[in-house]
Order: sequence, then structure tokens, then C-alpha cells
Amino acid sequence: MISQLIEAPGAGEIRQYRMLINGKLVEARSGKTLESINPYTGRVWAVVPEAGDEDVDVAVQAARTAFDEGPWGRMTGTERARLMRRLADLIAENAEHLATIESTDNGKLRREMNGQLKAIPEWFYYFAGAADKIHGETIPSDKPNFFIYTRREPIGVVGAILPWNSPLLLLAFKLAPALAAGCTFVIKPAEQTPASTLEFARLFTEAGFPPGVFNVITGFGPTTGRTLVRHPRVDKVAFTGSTETGKEVMKGAADHLARVTLELGGKSPNIVFDDADLNATTNGVIAGIFAATGQTCIAGSRLFVHESIPDALVSRLAERARTIKLGDPLDPATEMGPVAFKEQLAKIKSYIDISQQEGAQLVCGGKQPADPSLRDGYFIEPTILTQVDNSMRVAREEIFGPVLSVFSFSTEAEVIAQANDTQYGLAAGVWTRDGQRAHRVAHAIRAGTIWINAYRVLSFNVPFGGYKMSGIGRENGLEALHEYTQVKAVWVELEGQTRDPFTLG
Ligand code: NAI
Ligand code: MG
Repeated sequence: MISQLIEAPGAGEIRQYRMLINGKLVEARSGKTLESINPYTGRVWAVVPEAGDEDVDVAVQAARTAFDEGPWGRMTGTERARLMRRLADLIAENAEHLATIESTDNGKLRREMNGQLKAIPEWFYYFAGAADKIHGETIPSDKPNFFIYTRREPIGVVGAILPWNSPLLLLAFKLAPALAAGCTFVIKPAEQTPASTLEFARLFTEAGFPPGVFNVITGFGPTTGRTLVRHPRVDKVAFTGSTETGKEVMKGAADHLARVTLELGGKSPNIVFDDADLNATTNGVIAGIFAATGQTCIAGSRLFVHESIPDALVSRLAERARTIKLGDPLDPATEMGPVAFKEQLAKIKSYIDISQQEGAQLVCGGKQPADPSLRDGYFIEPTILTQVDNSMRVAREEIFGPVLSVFSFSTEAEVIAQANDTQYGLAAGVWTRDGQRAHRVAHAIRAGTIWINAYRVLSFNVPFGGYKMSGIGRENGLEALHEYTQVKAVWVELEGQTRDPFTLG
């Protein structure tokens, strides 16, 4: 039986949402709300509660009680897995409408969202499969009268703060391992894109999870988000967003020594050697910088091209960039949707201006499109800059938009040094047909993910995370379970021996 719990929004409809706290849909205690704007129309389409400190506290207490006293804390991994699989089925059954809601909220293509929503259930199936395989070890004792074992126990209450670019996928990165481990969860989605998480919350209840295991509060970062991070009863903060906010989050968590995982910004290099397959490279570079309108942490925003081929590659890229179809994110023919919100568009435009002041050359794009049908949306053309050097701001700072900077290089050693000359270390692409060189370069780049002859591929079973200022900790794969568990050592005396009580045993 298919459970269609979620409906697609009607044209012109303004949806009113409530938050999920302790299994109930509730307004903010203050009655305050905030508006979410559809970036294609520039109009308000959803109204959500604005949680105050008291709402955050009630949500954290609900998660705390569910962890410490509720049935969830006593469930076996096998029982948790059963609920997770039911949730995954419900996500799959409602994927189409969830995709529409997320596209309406953040302007991301339906065509990309269809793929993401198909993949999200896999995160829950994969980690459901792991839920009854989280185990400790027995450790042979150096003392003959002891038996020692370890237990891998859930960390407790997780506070999650997410950005607006891929709300549900980034939630799955955190929630699936957290549930497998036995944690409870309070999430604050981004203020620009709260709707898909609030819709998702309804599936959670339907799947049969006990109240308080999963809670959603909505509100702004410096108020609602800050209160959640600093709440003393939150044991771990899982954050994705900008490096600046990530530093704030880490400071807030430090006050009560909450664990953190931080998935932050990037300025990822895509390195093209003279023996690369130019068709595949062109495709990968386009995917890396123009997919999702460049609003991804893994964007391949710095393109390093061997000095023998820049003209050939840049002209192919520019030709493709000029034909990218901008339009309604819900239209399957559209290739690039709007930027997610007005301030982000202004930020991208300001970086294009800065690049011109710094002396970069604009090969294509750089403007808002002239097409009158795109007038209301937050659109910007796919933009390619050449004559960029690594000291310019466009080369050093995360733009988070469809702006590619192109550099040329002569030797392998030189390009490795330049690619690593950044505060970030999230991802990199290496394009070459020389297998030895591909691995050499992959090992030399200081980043958490390297693609060889590919770009922008992720999976639930492969660890993902940043080096340097791109983050702390890993999401996805079995590694992620370590981020939601902690180890307890249990010492068992076997023989009733006594010993000198004034020395360390
Ligand atoms: P942000 O990092 O400030 O926001 C991400 C989340 O953190 C949102 O839910 C926000 O409400 C929350 N937040 C903000 N301040 C907080 C605080 N003091 N305490 C707790 N939570 C807080 O990013 P924002 O402002 O949406 O975008 C600004 C720039 O950040 C973008 O232009 C882009 O360069 C970068 N960014 C990078 C992302 C990535 O995945 N690497 C994702 C989103 C933004
Ligand atoms: Mg929005």
C-alpha cells in the first residue's frame, strides 16, 4: 500500500506549517512566524513558526526524555532498523511531492531533486542494515583476573543545523547514522528552506517512531540556531553550512563540550592534464560548477588547466555554458534554476564585480539574464573567468554560485602546490589518462574527497568530509557511526582478588 501523505503545493497557495516537537505539530509559543520565498517567483509560498528559546528548550527536553526514559532508549538495533526501513519506504512513496516542495523552496531543479529523493531512502536502508552491527570488542587483559569488553553506545541528543542548498539529503547524512546508533534528534533547517523538513517530519510520525525521537524547530540562525547549539542538554551538534558559522557553532558547543561534526565550505580544484579526455572533462567541469547553480559545498570552482590546452577547453566550456537552459526549476527541460534567495544572488554578483576590479577576464556570463520570463526569479548566468591568479578574492573565497575561475599551470608539482594553496580541503577532481599520475596527485591533494576522471559523485557508503577549514568529522559510510557513538570500557573482576588499594591497578 502506498501512503501518499504529502501533497504538492497548488499554484499561488500559501502553506502554513507547524513544527514537530515530542510527536505533536505545534506553533511557536510566542505565535511568531517567518516567511519562506519561492526563488523562482520571488513570492512568499510558506509560513513557518519562529521558535524562541522556550520552544528550543521544550524540543531538546523532548529529545532528552525520549533518549533517557522513552522506549527508544531500550530498543534493540534490530527494532530501530525496522522503523528506519519503514521510514525509508515512506520517503520513497512520497518522493515526488517532497521533491516538488524542496524545489519550490530553494529553486533547485526538479530533475536533480528526483535523483536525490530516490537516493535518500538508500541512506536509511544502509544505516538500518548497520543498526544491529554496532558492537564493541573484548580486549585480552594484561591482568589474569580480568575480563574486559567495550560497548559502543549512542552519544545522546543530537542538535542538527542545516543549510538551504540540499535540506533533505544533508539531513539524511546526519539522521540515518544517528538513528542507527540510537540517538535522538532536534533539527533546525535553514530559515530560507524550512518546508521540506517540516513535511518530512510527518512521515516520521507515520513510520511509528516514539514521540521525541525526531523534532523539528524552525527559526533564524543567530537566535533559534544559536540557542540549540548552546543548549547544555545537547550532546552533539551536527552542522553543515559556512565556515564562519561553523566556527561559531564549535565555540557554542565548546561551552558544554558537545561533540561536533562540521561540514563547511570549499574552493575545490579541478585539475586537467594535457592527456585528459576533453569531452568527459568538459562534462565534469560543467557538473562541478553549474549544477545546482553552483550552490554546493563541493563545487569545482577553481579549474587548473595544463598550459597546452586552456583555449581548447575554455572554448568548449564557454560554448556549453552559453547554451545552459535557465528556467523554471519544476520544468524538466531546465538545466539551471535560480539562486536560492535574494541575498545569495547579491553576493554572487558582488564577487563578479570584484573579479573585474581584480583584473580577471570575463569569458561568458556575469549578468542577470535578459529574458523577461526570468525577471521575477533570482537568476544569474553561468560565468567563466580567466586570467585569475590564486591571490585574488574570487580564487580564495567561497562564492557558492555558478562562477568558474580558470588558471593555467605547467608542471605537476606546480599544480599540486597551487591546488593546495587554500584554506579549504573538501574535494578535488583530477583529469588524466595516466593512471600513475592520477593516484600520485590524488594522494598529494589535501582534501577529503578526490574524483579521478569524474566530479560531483557521492554515496551513502563512502565517507565524506573536509580537510583543513572544510570541516571536522566524516559523514556517510560506516565512519559516520563513530560520530554518533562513544566507547565505554567495562572491567570485570573474575576471581575475587584484593590488591593494594593505594596504587593504580
Ligand atoms: P550559514 O552557515 O550561516 O547557515 C547555515 C545554517 O546555520 C542555517 O540553518 C542558519 O540558520 C544557521 N546559523 C547561522 N548562524 C548561526 C549561529 N550563530 N548559530 C547556529 N546556527 C546558525 O550560511 P548562510 O548564511 O545561509 O550562507 C552564507 C554563505 O555560506 C553562502 O553564501 C555560502 O558561501 C556558504 N554556505 C556554504 C554551505 C556549504 O555547504 N558549504 C551551505 C550554505 C552556505
Ligand atoms: Mg525559501
